[in-house]
Amino acid sequence: MTSFWSIWVIVLTLACLAIIFGLLLWNLKNYAGVKEGESCGHEFDGIEELNNPLPKWWTYMFFATFIWSVYYLAAYPGLGNWEGLGKWTSSNQGITSLAESKEATEQALANGENVQLDQEYIAADERFGPIFESFAKQDIEALVKDEKALEIGQRLFSQNCAQCHGSDARGGQGFPNLTDKDWLYGGTPDKIKETLLYGRVAAMPPWGAALGEQGVKEMTAHVLSLSGRTVNQKDAAAGAAKFAMCAACHGADGKGSVAHNLPFGAPNLTDNIWLYGGSKRAVEETLMNGRAGVMPAWKDILGEDKVHLLTAYVYSLSQDK
Ligand code: HEC
Ligand code: HEC
Repeated sequence: MTSFWSIWVIVLTLACLAIIFGLLLWNLKNYAGVKEGESCGHEFDGIEELNNPLPKWWTYMFFATFIWSVYYLAAYPGLGNWEGLGKWTSSNQGITSLAESKEATEQALANGENVQLDQEYIAADERFGPIFESFAKQDIEALVKDEKALEIGQRLFSQNCAQCHGSDARGGQGFPNLTDKDWLYGGTPDKIKETLLYGRVAAMPPWGAALGEQGVKEMTAHVLSLSGRTVNQKDAAAGAAKFAMCAACHGADGKGSVAHNLPFGAPNLTDNIWLYGGSKRAVEETLMNGRAGVMPAWKDILGEDKVHLLTAYVYSLSQDK
């Protein structure tokens, strides 16, 4: 806040408090000219107005809230740019990584600031850190059989992953289903962990310019025929003739990067499982404009121990039970 607005807020808040307090004091005086409890001399439809004082309990409560407001405004931030005697904040602002968060936390501690979120993190780390650490020492195959580990993994998933992959991890348009055996980058524990730690950026180039409208139509026919769909044979044959330009990533047979041990994350086009939808229109759209799905990197956000547990959870989803 600029100092003008800071002063503006301070003046308004304090003036408001002063006026309310003055109003209360004023109302405690007896101006009616008659004794308390006696009639003021007005009558409305048989109801007489007596000169009753404010109820005592109400008045004391008003004083109490007033004292509380003074304490609160002094101790906590809120009065313009005033940071509060307790140097309290809810969280460190603008943090994007674990490293930054650690740095900000240490700085706040050194300055004697009271960052509530930090305090909660510190308490949680003390309590849960050893648990994550002990899970991190076990290998994924062992964790997959550990119900407690999977339960915690599932909670981490709900908090960090469900917004994109769905609470049941079955994904949606553009977000892969993690419960099937169809993988963009590989479904071994190592590959999943690599995906989680470092993230993935898909690069399906746009082909509209290279293929033209007719070319896209033909290539779409070929792509759909790969998973056994009924298509115009002439178009599909024309598309197949040009599929070499796709083979570098999807493989010459269209079975995708994983089947050919390639790192590109290009989906299997022969299994009728679609990341972006299997309608003619969706495939045409993919080919025309390309796609670029982004899976965020979690190493610096969750740390390796939690990622290890999440890997076990994700891995467990596609294993036969
Ligand atoms: C902002 C959305 C978003 C969030 C949050 C997110 N993901 Fe992803 N994830 C994606 C996208 C998009 C892809 C696919 C990337 C691509 O198109 O190549 C992906 C891919 C993956 C893959 C690779 C799947 C494969 O077939 O190889 C795994 C595993 C995965 N995510 C797990 C997770 C886990 C676990 C979390 C939580 C820690 C998480 N994701 C959080 C968007 C997200
Ligand atoms: C540079 C590597 C690369 C090349 C070359 C490439 N693709 Fe892709 N393709 C990808 C990747 C990566 C994705 C996944 C995009 C994502 O996850 O956001 C993809 C996705 C797709 C999809 C969407 C599949 C789905 O499940 O929704 C189709 C269809 C497709 N490609 C067809 C083609 C065709 C046809 C060609 C050749 C004209 C081609 N691709 C060339 C990498 C490539």
